[in-house]
Order: sequence, then structure tokens, then C-alpha cells
Amino acid sequence: MPYYSEKLLDHFRNPRNFGEMKDPDGVGRAGNVVCGDVLELYIKVKDNVITNASFMTFGCAAALGTSSILTEMIKGKTIEEALEISNQTVAEQAGGLPPQKIHCSVLAEEGLKAAIDDYKKRQVEKVKK
Ligand code: FES
Repeated sequence: MPYYSEKLLDHFRNPRNFGEMKDPDGVGRAGNVVCGDVLELYIKVKDNVITNASFMTFGCAAALGTSSILTEMIKGKTIEEALEISNQTVAEQAGGLPPQKIHCSVLAEEGLKAAIDDYKKRQVEKVKK
């Protein structure tokens, strides 16, 4: 079996939605203390639906590819649906990952959860104002 699927390699070579987002509704950061790789995920939300997502990942091919796949997966999902996405789901969407690279997909799950947390905090702040 090849190390990475064609799909993951495609997302690594041609990342979708790469870059910082202007005026995001939520920003999530996740990092791996062992390898030092970092993901920053940005989401736009309207009527409880994620309408746009982008990311900046400084990391390995698996981290970059799964981050790109994640942004495609979450567009159009409600916040509740997005919260059900685990790193396993992302790894499956990536066509599988070698066992030693599964941890790389954890960045995607943690970044997503952090972005949603940030979105929820911002909503509470808006209500307080
Ligand atoms: Fe660091 Fe992949 S080696 S996330």
C-alpha cells in the first residue's frame, strides 16, 4: 500500500482553502507538542451553519492534507454536525493514514473543536453587549 492516498497527496500539493480568513466567526488553534506542527482553523457561520472555512497549517504532509480535507468536509454542516467529526472521520476521508501518522489528523479535530468553542464564546459576548 502506498504511504499516502492519492486524495491526501492531492490536498497536500493543492491545499483547498489555505490562508487566513478576514473577519472569521471562530478561530481554533491546535498544536502537537511532540513534532511542533500547528494548525489554525477559521470558520464563518451563518444561522448555525458553517458557510466557509480556511486554514493555515505549518506541519507535515498528513497534517496539511487532512486540514485541507477538513475544510471541505465542514462547509455546509451545522455546528452540531461538525462537532461529530473526529480525527478518525477525517483520516477515513483522507483514504486512510499510516498508523504512525494518525496523530496528525488529531490536529484537524482539535482545531475544529477549538474554532467552534471560539465561535460559541463570541456569540455569548455578542449577547452580553
Ligand atoms: Fe506533526 Fe504530522 S508529524 S502533525
